[in-house]
Amino acid sequence: MPNTATLEINGQKHEFPLVKGTENEVAIDIKTLRAATGGITTIDPGYKNTGACESAITFLDGEKGILRYRGYAIEDLAQKADFLEVAFLLIFGELPNQEQLEEFHSDIKAQSLVDDDVRKIIDAFPKSAHPMGVLSSLTSALTAFNPSSVNVNSEEDMYHAIVKILAKFPVLVAWTLRKKQGLPLDYGDNSLGYVENILKMMFKKPNEEYVQSQVMVDALDKLLILHADHEQNCSTSTVRIVGSSHAGLFASISAGISALWGPLHGGANQAVLEMLEAIKEDGGDTKKYMAKAKDKEDPFRLMGFGHRVYKNLDPRATIIKVSADKVLNDLGVEDPILEVAKGLEQEALNDDYFVSRKLYPNVDFYSGIIYRAMDIPTDMFTVMFALGRLPGWIAQWREMRLNNEPIGRPRQLYIGETHREFKNIKKR
Ligand code: CMC
Repeated sequence: MPNTATLEINGQKHEFPLVKGTENEVAIDIKTLRAATGGITTIDPGYKNTGACESAITFLDGEKGILRYRGYAIEDLAQKADFLEVAFLLIFGELPNQEQLEEFHSDIKAQSLVDDDVRKIIDAFPKSAHPMGVLSSLTSALTAFNPSSVNVNSEEDMYHAIVKILAKFPVLVAWTLRKKQGLPLDYGDNSLGYVENILKMMFKKPNEEYVQSQVMVDALDKLLILHADHEQNCSTSTVRIVGSSHAGLFASISAGISALWGPLHGGANQAVLEMLEAIKEDGGDTKKYMAKAKDKEDPFRLMGFGHRVYKNLDPRATIIKVSADKVLNDLGVEDPILEVAKGLEQEALNDDYFVSRKLYPNVDFYSGIIYRAMDIPTDMFTVMFALGRLPGWIAQWREMRLNNEPIGRPRQLYIGETHREFKNIKKR
C-alpha cells in the first residue's frame, strides 16, 4: 500500500502522508493542506469523515461490531471487571493490581465530601428542572468550590483533579435524584464499594435501613462499564474541544453533560422508553410506528436504532439485551414494554428500510428497561449514562492535555453576503 495520498487541484498535485493506526486503520494526514494549497479547506458536516485526534483509549470497529477499551474486549470487561477497575484502565491505560485499585478507591473516598453550600444551589432549582440541566450546572459549580487550576505538567495535580471528580460526581447524581423525590440529601457511606455507595446514596430512605441488592449492584456495574467510553462521540468531542482551550476538567465535563443530554445522543435512552410507553398505550401497534419511522415526511425516528459508527450490531446492545431479561427476572419485575421492544426489534431487523441502512439497536434501546426495573425515573436515565461516561471523559481530557493538543477550532466555508455598504436606519 502506498504511504502517500495525492490530491490534484487544477492540474497541480499535492502529496499528503498516510498514517496507520495499530488496528491498521488508515488516515490521510492533511495538517499541511491549507498551507500547501493556498488556503483550500475541507467540508465535512458532522465530521463523518474527519479524525479529530489520535487516541490510544478506545477502539471501535463499526463494521464488525467490535468495542475495546485499551485493547480489552467490552464483553470481557462487562463480565469480569468492575466499574472502578474499568475507570482506572481507561484513565491510566492499564488494569490496576489489587493494591493500585485499593489506593485509587481510598483516594476517591477521601474526596467524597461536597461543599454543603452546593445544597443551596440545588435548592434554587424547581423540582420540575430536568436532571441533566441540574447535573451540568452542579458540575460546573464544582469549579467555584475547587478553584485552583490543574497544572497538567504535574502528575500529582492531574491525579488529584481526577479523583476529586470521580468522588463528587456520584454525590451530585444522587442529590439530583433525591431533590426530585423530596428526599434529604445524603453524603453516602465510605465503607461501601463505589457502585454500592452510589445505589445507597440514591435510594436510602431516612426512616429505614438500606439493604443492598446484589442484582442491582451487578446490573448497575455492568451498565456503567458499557457506557464508560466510546471514542470521539458528540459529548467526548465536546469535552476535548472545551478542554483544548485550557478550561478546567470540571468545566469541560459540564459541557460534555450538556452534549450528552440531546435525544440523538445519550438522551435517546429516555426517548426510547417514552416511545415504547407511547406504543404500548397506543395498543402495541408496532407496525404503525415502523411506518412513521420510515416516512420521510414524519420527523419521528425509531429511538434506540442506528449509530454513526456501528453498521452492525452494537456489541453493548447485545450484552444489555441479555442483561435486561436476567435483571427483570431476578428482580421479579414483569414489564410489558420489554415485549414491545423485542417485537419492534424483530420487525426492524427484517425490514428492508432498516436492513439497507444498516440500522440496528444501539446501547440505548434496552438500557432504559433495566433502569426502570431498578426504580430509576425516566428523566434520570441520561444522568446514569453520564455517570458511566465520566471515566471516558476524564481519560479523553487527560490524553488531550498530555498530548498538548492545539485548541479545537474548525474552519468553515463562508456562504453569506459579500461586502455591503452600511445603510443608515432611515434608508433601510
Ligand atoms: N429511525 C429511522 N431512520 C433512521 C434512524 C432511526 N433511528 N437512524 C437513521 N435513520 C435513517 C436516516 O433517516 C437516513 O436515511 P436516508 O439515508 O434515507 O436519508 C439514514 O438512516 C442514515 O442516518 P443519518 O441520520 O444520516 O445517520 P447519522 O450517522 O447522522 O445518525 C444517529 C446517527 C444515531 C444520530 C441516528 O441513527 C439516530 O437519530 N438514531 C436515533 C437516536 C438514537 O438512538 N441515538 C443514540 C445513539 S447510540 C448512543 C449515543 O450515541 O449516545
